[in-house]
Amino acid sequence: MKATLIFLLLAQVSWAGPFQQRGLFDFMLEDEASGIGPEERVPEFGEMEPLGPVCPFRCQCHLRVVQCSDLGLDKVPSDLPPDTTLLDLQNNKITEIKNDDFKNLKDLHALILVNNKISKISPGAFTPLVKLERLYLSKNQLKELPEKMPKSLQELRVHENEITKVRKAVFNGLNEMIVIELGTNPLKSSGIENGAFQGMKKLSYIRIADTNITSIPQGLPPSLTELHLDNNKITKVDAASLKGLNNLAKLGLSFNSISSVENGSLANTPHLRELHLNNNKLLRVPGGLAEHKYIQVVYLHNNNISAVGANDFCPPGYNTKKASYSGVSLFSNPVQYWEIQPSTFRCVYVRSAIQLGNFK
Ligand SMILES: *[C@@H]1O[C@H](CO)[C@@H](O)[C@H](O)[C@H]1NC(C)=O
Ligand SMILES: *[C@@H]1O[C@H](CO)[C@@H](O)[C@H](O)[C@H]1NC(C)=O
Ligand SMILES: *[C@@H]1O[C@H](CO)[C@@H](O)[C@H](O)[C@H]1NC(C)=O
Repeated sequence: MKATLIFLLLAQVSWAGPFQQRGLFDFMLEDEASGIGPEERVPEFGEMEPLGPVCPFRCQCHLRVVQCSDLGLDKVPSDLPPDTTLLDLQNNKITEIKNDDFKNLKDLHALILVNNKISKISPGAFTPLVKLERLYLSKNQLKELPEKMPKSLQELRVHENEITKVRKAVFNGLNEMIVIELGTNPLKSSGIENGAFQGMKKLSYIRIADTNITSIPQGLPPSLTELHLDNNKITKVDAASLKGLNNLAKLGLSFNSISSVENGSLANTPHLRELHLNNNKLLRVPGGLAEHKYIQVVYLHNNNISAVGANDFCPPGYNTKKASYSGVSLFSNPVQYWEIQPSTFRCVYVRSAIQLGNFK
């Protein structure tokens, strides 16, 4: 039975995107440990259902996991077992989620609705799901995020929909939220309410890639460790929107139209380890790298940087606590590598970490 579980988990991870699942095994194992699955439980006298265990027609039910993917369903099956912990409805033709669709599923931890045709979710549809931790709605036709999502929610994926607005109210009280994926939606910066994500005290990962936003969202929570905003229309990195992000370790801003990084941006993210700014319009190396203690990866290739100063990357003295760089790229910029003084990279101990041209 472990083999079945692992198969399901792998199937799930394959479309989960770049974020590495961490907690999924834990919660499945927790489920396993929390009680004996329905199959192994010996029914007591008089408890036998006359119709046998419920499993919707053509779905597969095993260990409280209900698998109804790829069945051409146009609505949520009505006879779902009430003790279901994982419900997989991906790759169907469901168009709408109604208020009563999940009304008995108080043990549900994960709901997978990826790749359907959902354009409408009734406001109370998720209210009965008091234990829901993962809600996967990617590849649908939603124009808005669902209202009244369960307070227990930890992970929300709404990649590839038609969302134009992100309102603060939809995240109200979602204090357990850790991961939000909103990429590939027709979002503009004006569509994201200021401070929309601010109230979520455990939020660690946000990805809003492949949209039309033109600036970094304002009012991000200090708990954030990863912010992925690649392939948008962002024109500059403003220090103010990064203020207070003391835990930020990875910042992805590649494939935007960024021509400047405001002074103070790096000082506002003191624990940053990776900064991806490749494929932008930068004219110079961002300020503050030399003083930054932890930054190790700085991608600046495919920009418009025409000069690199001897103090752009490394502090003036040798005796500092700066972490060594493990990846710096500067190729495909107008600066010629022979114009860069060798001392520029004096704080880099692994020479192969620096990629200047076709030549390292
Ligand atoms: C961004 O805007 C352009 C022009 O309005 C549009 O064609 C494109 O589909 C938009 N991109 C996304 C991801 O919505
Ligand atoms: C940013 O900092 C650099 C170096 O400290 C300085 O030369 C430059 O004038 C500053 N730019 C602005 C806009 O303050
Ligand atoms: C690169 O920067 C120069 C100014 O230094 C500017 O004239 C040119 O248009 C820029 N090129 C691109 C592709 O942005």
